[in-house]
Amino acid sequence: MAQIFYHEPVLASEIVAMLVRKSGIYVDGTLGGGGHSFRILQELAAQGLLEGSLLIGIDQDDAALQAASEKLKQYDDHIELVKGNFCEIEEIVTKVCAHKCLQPRVTGILLDLGVSSFQIDTPERGFSYLREGTLDMRMDESGSRTAGDIVNSCSENELAGLFFRYGEEPKSRRIARAIVAYREKYGPVTGTEELAGIIRKNMHGGEMVLKTLSRVFQALRIEVNNELEVLRRALYDGIDRLEEHGRMAVISYHSLEDRIVKTVFIEKASNDWGPKGVGLREPVRRGSVTMLTRKPVMPGGEEVESNPRARSAKLRVIEKISHGGNHAC
Ligand SMILES: C[S@@+](CC[C@H](N)C(=O)[O-])C[C@H]1O[C@@H](n2cnc3c(N)ncnc32)[C@H](O)[C@@H]1O
Repeated sequence: MAQIFYHEPVLASEIVAMLVRKSGIYVDGTLGGGGHSFRILQELAAQGLLEGSLLIGIDQDDAALQAASEKLKQYDDHIELVKGNFCEIEEIVTKVCAHKCLQPRVTGILLDLGVSSFQIDTPERGFSYLREGTLDMRMDESGSRTAGDIVNSCSENELAGLFFRYGEEPKSRRIARAIVAYREKYGPVTGTEELAGIIRKNMHGGEMVLKTLSRVFQALRIEVNNELEVLRRALYDGIDRLEEHGRMAVISYHSLEDRIVKTVFIEKASNDWGPKGVGLREPVRRGSVTMLTRKPVMPGGEEVESNPRARSAKLRVIEKISHGGNHAC
């Protein structure tokens, strides 16, 4: 039986309040089931701003696009849903705008990172150690490398590096060694429960098994979907696409993502004074954004209680203050 797509949008009221202020082009780079997009379109309509607005929804997962197109049906004339990676934001916006004879300047961008509840809860996608499924973890199912390919082809060193780098897992070496020993004895690891079993078996009493499981699964997911690299590119290219006073909002769910968002936002908000010791009177490049959230916005207790997935969410928002930011003097 087909599973029903569900996903509760996180920090939705905060997103709408910070992003929706005028009619224009909005990009939801992580469309999912269309929960945030629906709220954005609803708010545009409520403020009488829907005319002249277009929401471009991007997702790399076919199931998400299908669910979102259903959910957003009533706004059909104001949406364009595109299968793609949000790191292609520049090309996607340019192409959609050219087709619709619009200036490719964006008023608001949202990235709600990671996977949806639907993806996590669909066992055959292999995202969760709590459900038996194949070790897949591709958000874009046409992608070539699955988590199973990585687990079964990487060396012990490569696996340990991966678990440490993308999972910040302190026992990465021990786990990598156990996986390779298992592979040699029993053949390829194919299932989520099989991998979880190897990890569980190699944990000592008192160690936080669940933490390790989620760190290892997070590391594999990041590697399969190249998540950190595409995020970095989407932030730079997205900021470039924003119109003056356009805003970008990003919700991250773990420290590796949040660190990248924070670092890029700080870099784009700061003046560049060139090499140290040159003593310029004017910066080589002025900051092109202003930070609207000095500290990340986090969900309140009520939201976390009704939607536990929200508990680790951190929202950061910037506003563009000039188009190019290149004011060399
Ligand atoms: C947390 S969910 C978004 C949920 C959505 N905000 C909602 O309210 O329904 C993240 C979605 O973004 C998609 N996604 C994650 N990384 C992506 C990327 N680099 N490019 C395109 N889509 C991506 C996932 O496939 C997933 O559907």
